Amino acid sequence: MGRRKLVAGNWKMNGMKSHLAEIEAIGRIAAERPVVEVGICVPATLIMAAAERKGGAFIGAQDCHMNASGAHTGCLSADMLAEAGAEYIIVGHSERREAQGESDADVAAKALAAKAAGLKVILCVGESLDVRDAGNAEAVVCDQLLASLPQGAAADWLAIAYEPIWAIGTGRIPTMEAVASMHAALRAALASRIGAHEADAMRILYGGSMSGDNAAELMAIPDVDGGLVGGASLTAAKFGPVIAAA
Ligand code: G3P
Repeated sequence: MGRRKLVAGNWKMNGMKSHLAEIEAIGRIAAERPVVEVGICVPATLIMAAAERKGGAFIGAQDCHMNASGAHTGCLSADMLAEAGAEYIIVGHSERREAQGESDADVAAKALAAKAAGLKVILCVGESLDVRDAGNAEAVVCDQLLASLPQGAAADWLAIAYEPIWAIGTGRIPTMEAVASMHAALRAALASRIGAHEADAMRILYGGSMSGDNAAELMAIPDVDGGLVGGASLTAAKFGPVIAAA
């Protein structure tokens, strides 16, 4: 055990230069709480400027290409993002799996590309409402995790984020029991692939309508090692209470 909590904001397609003051304010909050690892995954256009104002927080990106360079118009390699100042990359977010058609194999390849560039990775998994209602969410999400898991997955560069798709941006979250059960199932799935020792060290975050109102309860669940936070990470006023809850 002894996993350090990780709380990462995902700004998605939000954030202009005028929002850099929020990065600064979040960075100050992070500096006051070194016991928690705090970061913000910003749009790529903000990485350089955000990295100069990050204080005690890390700056991350939200996606990368699986190749290191080449004829991929409009895409960014992990090396480029690292050079710009990113320290983490989110891969496999459900919004990209759905809208960009990213497969589990794509997600694993992107994670490896990020690692090769020296970046840490937050790999997302999660079920649709149909799957949750059908009653087999744990089996589906564990399968998705194992299919997306990159070779050499290890706790010093990889964290997992469980984000039920139906909880993202909706204000709805699963019951605490359902979250606890899913996280325990994910850790067992990890152990089956990478061994109990490494699985025990790997952080599994919860994401989906996490806020200052529910973060303390969610992060008190033994297998919940932090959060991946969307809407509530956009301002220091909203993100501060989530960080404090960790
Ligand atoms: O990656 C974080 C995310 O998908 C959750 O978004 O707005 O529900 O916190 P939100």
